[in-house]
Amino acid sequence: MPLLKLENVTKRFGGLIAVNRVNLEIKAGQFIGIVGPNGSGKTTLFNIVNGVFFPEEGKVIFEDQNITILPPYKRAPLGIARTFQIPRPFCGATVRENIAVGAMFGTHGRYVNVDESLEIADNTIKRVGLRKHRDKPAGILTPVEKKLMEIARALAMKPKLLLMDEAMAGMHPNDIDRMVDFIKKIATEEKIAIVAMVEHIMRALLGMAEKIIVLHHGAKLVDAPTKEALEDPKVVEVYLGKNTKK
Ligand SMILES: Nc1ncnc2c1ncn2[C@@H]1O[C@H](COP(=O)(O)OP(=O)(O)OP(=O)(O)O)[C@@H](O)[C@H]1O
Ligand SMILES: [Mg+2]
Repeated sequence: MPLLKLENVTKRFGGLIAVNRVNLEIKAGQFIGIVGPNGSGKTTLFNIVNGVFFPEEGKVIFEDQNITILPPYKRAPLGIARTFQIPRPFCGATVRENIAVGAMFGTHGRYVNVDESLEIADNTIKRVGLRKHRDKPAGILTPVEKKLMEIARALAMKPKLLLMDEAMAGMHPNDIDRMVDFIKKIATEEKIAIVAMVEHIMRALLGMAEKIIVLHHGAKLVDAPTKEALEDPKVVEVYLGKNTKK
């Protein structure tokens, strides 16, 4: 049984088809990269999976449950976590408190009290390396630190599926390598399926993804093992540019 299944999902904004009849299967613990030019529908697809948007057509199935029209706050406790392309911290709250919110609204359910959620936050903070920022208001973090905090907040949910929308954009290549290793480790150890949008950072994709999905004008152009996908002439033309040599 796949963890997540999209069946023929279509999302329109007026006359624009942002996501066009996408079929997709993700297994538990699988590491998948999503790429595609600007405006190809990557963020919209994430929004459909976590419930920000409901598709006009098609179904979203999570662990055999039809969640197509379930709101985000009801998907989070099922184990669907995400980071945002543009980070969305609670700016006035501390880094620790921001991450504790993840613990409170994740798969731990309503049985986690404030102290327990802060303890989960502390553990997660150590793991992502934000210890020295723990008690700072989240609003003063750098963009990269905010991205890290978003990853920590998502992990504190103890998710089964983690959607990362440009989570590594703007990071130094060394930090990306560290982040990729870290994420890969938790994906394996905690069996979290990860769908990562890592546009413009092909090196991260190459190192981490089991398979790659390429979107183009909202439709799935390629869905193949990483190496195969990156060598596909359609991908080279649409995404990397005609003369790109890998
Ligand atoms: N809320 C919205 N209202 C109207 N149009 C939207 C909305 N969100 C996205 N779109 C449009 O849908 C299409 C897909 O956008 P989306 O943000 O999903 O692309 P993307 O692949 O994430 O792009 P990027 O690489 O720039 O992040 C674009 O044409 C975009 O303008
Ligand atoms: Mg986007």
